[in-house]
Amino acid sequence: MTDDKITTVELGDGGPQVGVQGLGCMGMSEFYGDTDELSARETLETALAAGVTLFDTADVYGLGANETFLAPFVGAHRDEITLATKFAIERKDDDPHYRGVRNDPAYIRKAVEDSLRRLDTDVIDLYYMHRRDPAVPLAESVGAMAELVQQGKVKQLGLSEVTGAELREAHAVHPIAALQSEWSLFSRDVERSAVPAAVELGVTLVPYSPLGRGFLTGAFTDAAKELSQGDFRQYQPRFTGDNAKTNAALLEPVHKIAAVHGASAAQVALAWVQQRAQVHGLTVVPIPGTRKSSRLLENVAATRLVLTDEELARLEPIAGLVAGDRYPDMSSTSAARE
Ligand SMILES: NC(=O)c1ccc[n+]([C@@H]2O[C@H](COP(=O)([O-])OP(=O)(O)OC[C@H]3O[C@@H](n4cnc5c(N)ncnc54)[C@H](OP(=O)(O)O)[C@@H]3O)[C@@H](O)[C@H]2O)c1
Repeated sequence: MTDDKITTVELGDGGPQVGVQGLGCMGMSEFYGDTDELSARETLETALAAGVTLFDTADVYGLGANETFLAPFVGAHRDEITLATKFAIERKDDDPHYRGVRNDPAYIRKAVEDSLRRLDTDVIDLYYMHRRDPAVPLAESVGAMAELVQQGKVKQLGLSEVTGAELREAHAVHPIAALQSEWSLFSRDVERSAVPAAVELGVTLVPYSPLGRGFLTGAFTDAAKELSQGDFRQYQPRFTGDNAKTNAALLEPVHKIAAVHGASAAQVALAWVQQRAQVHGLTVVPIPGTRKSSRLLENVAATRLVLTDEELARLEPIAGLVAGDRYPDMSSTSAARE
């Protein structure tokens, strides 16, 4: 490192250099309880100053509100950041529980225009398909995404929650720069088929929820009892009742290892993702989400933490012992199609 900024890596084959840790912006608008807008905006600036350049949003976060929220930051720093957003999860204003998955070209062509307008920019650096609808041929969807690259609306393409086979199929239609999937001490499905495919194809992995949505930090144990009403984690099988109790106990080695390093559990969890990727020979840019500058600085400092082989071995069994699925409904995840 030449200054106090985090190191950089190439995003996809021949893509831009980005900070080795990105920032997930989802929680700034929805899912994780009330947000203080000023401190969220300060966090964005703190991130950029620390060398974080990949900023992650999606059209579905807050039904467009997260993209709108990011627009002033994007406008102020357009050439300094790599802006990623996503399409495919359809929601309805009048039905908060509705979730559909849309991959058809007409939907994609409209979605990109809506995102560009909300982000107040003329180009999206990395455009992801957020979820896969197996009823639509992948070549058709990726073909429509590739047209957006040709039209200059999008620079690079990404996929989220796809299998290794799907990643290969898509990559044959147009180069895929990034795969965004859940990857953490608690969630390692991705290592089955997607990680080997990403290594083979030169695709960067962007691990989402690397802190297990905050659970791995020890910030809460039982979401139903400790988090505010409406917090999405209350509906996730891993974070309530007996599962939460079982899963919190699994964090004991994480806390012990953190104490030895004078680090936090969050930092151990983030260092684990980076070092696990090295084992696979894979480039990763994890995107932990936070709305607080202090946590942002704590998280980027984890890029300098190195765990020993013995510590990694103690963390190895955790994922296999986790109680409960990642989502209440796993049908649209890659795990359901493997
Ligand atoms: N592709 C997909 O399907 C998908 C799905 C989910 C998420 N994502 C993306 O991935 C990003 C990250 O995932 P995520 O936000 O779900 O989960 P995460 O990064 O694993 O955890 C975020 C949670 O951890 C808390 N936190 C962050 N740093 C902390 C620290 N150092 N100590 C204690 N608590 C800390 C945050 O609270 P505060 O904000 O209060 O700090 C927030 O509640 C999202 O923002 C989104 O962009 C993508």
